[in-house]
Parts: sequence; structure tokens; C-alpha cells
Amino acid sequence: MSVWRQFFAVQPVTDTPAGGTDRLKRALGPWALTAIGLGATIGTGVFVFTGQVAAQHAGPAVTISLLIAAFGSVLAALCYSEFASFLPVSGSAYSYAYATLGEGIAWFIGWNLTLEYMLSASAVAVSWSGYVTNLLGSIGIHLPEQLVNAPLAKAPEGSGAFLSLQATGAIINVPAVLIIAVMSWICYVGVKLSSGVNSFMVALKVGVIIVFILAGLAFVDTSLWHPYIPPQTSSGHFGWSGIMTGAAIIFFSYIGFDTASTTALEARNPQRDVPLGILGALGISAILYVGMSMVMTGMVPFTQLDVDEPVAVALDAHPQLRWLGMFVKLGAIIGMTSVILMSLLGQPRILLAMADDGLLPGRMSRCHARYKTPHVATAVSGTIAAVVAGVFPLDVLGELISMGILLAFAVVCIGVLILRYTRPNTHRPFRVPFAPVTCVAGAAVCLAMTLALPKETWERLVYWTAIGFAIYAFYGYKHSRLHASARTDNGAVRDARSSES
Ligand code: ALA
Repeated sequence: MSVWRQFFAVQPVTDTPAGGTDRLKRALGPWALTAIGLGATIGTGVFVFTGQVAAQHAGPAVTISLLIAAFGSVLAALCYSEFASFLPVSGSAYSYAYATLGEGIAWFIGWNLTLEYMLSASAVAVSWSGYVTNLLGSIGIHLPEQLVNAPLAKAPEGSGAFLSLQATGAIINVPAVLIIAVMSWICYVGVKLSSGVNSFMVALKVGVIIVFILAGLAFVDTSLWHPYIPPQTSSGHFGWSGIMTGAAIIFFSYIGFDTASTTALEARNPQRDVPLGILGALGISAILYVGMSMVMTGMVPFTQLDVDEPVAVALDAHPQLRWLGMFVKLGAIIGMTSVILMSLLGQPRILLAMADDGLLPGRMSRCHARYKTPHVATAVSGTIAAVVAGVFPLDVLGELISMGILLAFAVVCIGVLILRYTRPNTHRPFRVPFAPVTCVAGAAVCLAMTLALPKETWERLVYWTAIGFAIYAFYGYKHSRLHASARTDNGAVRDARSSES
């Protein structure tokens, strides 16, 4: 097969993955799947980025940024749901793209999904480290600065530094590395334990947010919401351009709602429960985020929220609410812990799907005989996530991750549309309502958000993509099962052209 034919060659649509369906334990029902989505979703975004986006980009209109990001996510979630009900496999958007758009695009998506899972575990571990260091400081335990901060930070605009990064003098972010190591071990020993630990943490963090909203409501001063959209000071700062930039950054807070789609092989009834888990997690988190942001920007002037713990700042401004401070910090730490856990749970399942297809070494798809988990992929992704968490700062990771996922979501929306035309008669237990409008709008909203991100983020994405394609060119292209089956001419595979006929 020529390079280009293979790049656009699609996998046959099947609900039986290459390695069979019985390697993983089918233990998850609809509530567990929603909890997995919430576990992976509610974390750094709501506890850190809401305040920073209000202060730097959107003012009280951070709620509008949240709604725009939620709108793009809902449209993508609907498309995810149709795909997940159509292809109940563990590779999420990667498998969906392989079945519709071809191997090269699927590789691009799979590679970007590692941003969503592996690198977002790293990003959240960085803010987890910040909250833990602060909490320890408040009880008199002070850790050395050089061991709790990233050795790299954003360089000033126009500095010409490589990837716009500069050294900070710190050595490594030790707490961030340690939390990744512990969570990876939990993932290694089993999804059942992971799911139980996750449900407990989800209940706690949702509880903290609801208590904050109810307690804070009495202290809201509505004059702080005027003007709701502060005038623009420069591109991307206040006004509608600030709201759009804010939406792209705050989009990070919704990342993870689709994690349930990576556990389709562990769901008892994937066709029904995976869409329920995806949409349930997204809806619940959007309501909580908007409520929390409204209350927070009503409790203190939004300009005061440009800190790593905006929720604590809002509480500290009202002495009657100080008792809640410690509770909220603990809730944030637990919330972030569950995001890290769920992200690390999702990543190996994508690697597993890619290894099954020959795009990564077959060793990645091995499952542990006793734990029934993809233990090799879990150890590999945990190690890489720990190194990244130890070295990079939160803002750089957050923006890169949002950009990569927005692009992946746009492709998912387009993929659903293509499949409607190429496979119109295949049974879909869940169908995107109002397609093709929903699919086109989903892709458009996601792409519009990427355009609002800083140009340095595009630059970093280009490097990330180049690394990904280098791996594909030197390994995946040659070892792909499509490539092998084309060579042996065993007609199990069609190319994009034959799929149209
Ligand atoms: N949505 C996740 C968070 O906000 C990544 O922490």
C-alpha cells in the first residue's frame, strides 16, 4: 500500500476489538460511568482556572466563557455518544477516527488524546502540588521552594526563547511526581478499586462545591457583576475577545467528560450506559461550574481572583465563612486527585487500542493475568506523566492540552458526519439529534476556540504533532496491521475508496 493510501485507509467497523472482548472485567454500570466522567472532569479547571480567567480575560462574564465551552463540549459529547454506541471499543476518538477518516488522522487524534489523558494528569498534578504545599504551609510545614515548583516557566512575550519557555531555578516539582506515582499504582492494580476510590472522591468534591455555592450565596454583592462584560483592554482581555479566549482556556475544566468512552470494554451495557455517562458528567459539571463562578465573582471583585486558589480568596474575604476554607482546600485536593486517577485510567486504554492496531509495540496491549488491567501501558503512561509533571508549569500544559483536545473533538464531530454517509444503515443505539447541523456546529465551535488561544500554544502544538508523526513514520506506518494485511493481501481491510462503494 502506498503511504497516502495507508494514511487514509480505514479500519472495518466492528464491535470486536483485535484482542477480543474478554481481557478486561465488565464491572461498570451507568452510575459508575457517570462518576468516572465526573471524576476525570471536576478539578483544576473549576478550582483554579475559573478565578484566573475572570481576572485576566472575561471578568464576571467567565460564566459566558463557561457556557460557550460547555456548548462546544455538549455538541462533541453527542457525537462521542453516537460513536461510543456504534463502536463500543476502548480507544475513544482514536478508534472512531480510524473507522472513518483513516489511519493517519487516527494517529493524530490518538496522539492528541495523550494530551487529554496523560498530560492532563500531569497538569492537574502540578496544581495539586500547589494546593498541598499551601495547605501544609498553613499548618506550619514549609517545603523547599526548589522542590515544589517547575524548573520551566513561560518566557515573556517576544523573548525569542525556544518554545517560549525559560528556567526558573527550581529543580523539580516533587509532590506532583509523587501523586502521579501513587495514582498509577492504583490504576495498575485494578479498575474495580479505581472505580470505588473514584466514586468516594467524586461525592466529596461535588459536596464541597455545593456547600460553597449555598454558603456563599448569602454574601453575593450583585454590584460586583456590573459591568458584567468589562470593556476590552487588549485582544483577548475583557470584551467578547476576552470571553472567547477565556472559553478556550476554561475548556480545560470540561476535559475528561468523555473518559467513560475509554472504558467501554469494562461497561456492562456499553451501548446504553456510555452515552449516559458522558452526557451526565458533562451536564452536572457545567451546572456546578457556572454556579460556583457566579457566586465567586459576586463575593469579591474579580480582579482579586488572579491567584492559584481563587475559591479560598473569596472565602477569606468574608470572616463568617473562614471555617469553610480548610474544607474547600481539602475538597479541591481530593477533586484533583480523582482527575489524576481517572486520566491515568483512560490513557492506557487508548495505548492498548493503538497497540492492538500495530501502531505501537504489541507489549502495550498486554493485560495483567490477575488484575485484568493493561499494566504495561499503565506503567509507561504513568512514568511519562510523572516526568512532565515534575518539569512543566500549569499554564503551559493547560493551554496546550485545551488546543489538542479541541482539535480532536472537531475531528470526532466530522467523523460522525462521514459515518452517516458511508454507513447509513448500520444500527446506532444513540443518534446525534439534528445532524448534520449539530456535527458541523460542534466542529465550528471547537475550531473557533482554538483560534482564540495564544500563538505560542500553536507553536508548541506543532512541535508536539511533529514528534507524533515522527513516531508514526518510523514505527506505526510499518507495523500497522492494515499495512501487514495489505502486504499479505488478506482482504480483511478496505481502503477509504472501497468504503465509499
Ligand atoms: N477537567 C479537568 C480539570 O479541570 C482536567 O482538572
